[in-house]
Amino acid sequence: MARIAVAKVSDIPPGQREIVVPFRGRAGIGVFNVAGSFYAVRNICPHKNGPLCTGTLTGRVTTSAPPAAQGAAISIDGDGEILHCPWHQWAFEIATGRCLVDPKVRVKTYPVEIEGDDVVVIYED
Ligand code: FES
Repeated sequence: MARIAVAKVSDIPPGQREIVVPFRGRAGIGVFNVAGSFYAVRNICPHKNGPLCTGTLTGRVTTSAPPAAQGAAISIDGDGEILHCPWHQWAFEIATGRCLVDPKVRVKTYPVEIEGDDVVVIYED
């Protein structure tokens, strides 16, 4: 396994990201700070190779019933945990890379550790 410091912790405040290029290819990775936890996601959408990590961040929308049902309760939790590809809006869980619509689809993620003030991404060499 290899390790590389990609940013300072202070460079990526909660709710923010940094695109690191190149990283194992020209597309790079997105390094996200989600409520104080750091994650690294490959910047290539598994749908049609869009620049996934430049997309919008939202929370997770859940409903107690189909949205058209009367009285369905809708809630949004985990602000900033969901990444939407800018090309066709596929949504991915940043922590796992799992696609919300089709759990069989994933984007590559990398472990991240904090060493002092460095954000360190770990990858297979
Ligand atoms: S390329 Fe990302 S949703 Fe289509």
